[in-house]
Amino acid sequence: LTEGPLKGKHILVTSGPTHEPIDPVRYIANRSSGAQGTAIAVALRDLGAEVSFVTGPADVPPPSGVKVIRVETAREMKDAVEAALPAEAAVFAAAVADWRVATENGSKIKKVKGELPTLEFAENPDILAGVSQMEAGRPRLVVGFAAETDDVVAHATAKRKRKGCDWIVANDVSPATGIMGGSENAVVLITERGADDWPRMGKDEVARQLAYRIADHLNGTDTS
Ligand code: C5P
Repeated sequence: LTEGPLKGKHILVTSGPTHEPIDPVRYIANRSSGAQGTAIAVALRDLGAEVSFVTGPADVPPPSGVKVIRVETAREMKDAVEAALPAEAAVFAAAVADWRVATENGSKIKKVKGELPTLEFAENPDILAGVSQMEAGRPRLVVGFAAETDDVVAHATAKRKRKGCDWIVANDVSPATGIMGGSENAVVLITERGADDWPRMGKDEVARQLAYRIADHLNGTDTS
């Protein structure tokens, strides 16, 4: 299927968690099923986009009909994103680990009774901020995500400014919402025009709505 309002447009999507190795058998990661990022890739594909899908180790399989680039770590994800550019739009749905272990252990850390290992961390690159602030070749539309547990709109609005992206899809992931790992999402779309509260709906429907908004934006047919 190549017809549709995004026909021939290259769009980059990141999805899933990143895994940051502690040693060959252990890692640290953020919680992420990859469901929302996968649904977005599908929705963009179905509107005719050529999708590059850069994914960490997610629970859900990557969609067909998109270019899948599998990565493990945040640094690999950054390299893959840079290699996939240029793109007309980029959607950063991945739950990237903020930190990695500073000195990766080449062999398994042995368990010694009464001794606790200490880990030293190093900051991972912020892939969304890096792409948002590119001086040349920046995608025309850069969309970030914000998973918040309180003051969703205030935090996401500040995040939009800080990162330099165009839109933020913000959601409330406090445990009571059941959103994390579930099939539904309740999002607020933050743009330069303010905050747009979407009703709670399936992740597939969030993805479809977002894909249409992206198409309208790229085609200059924005109405809101
Ligand atoms: O700062 P925070 O992690 O809350 O920002 C979330 C947004 O930034 C998401 O769009 C996520 O994909 C992106 N991000 C990134 N690289 C990082 C951290 C977050 O691209 N190292």
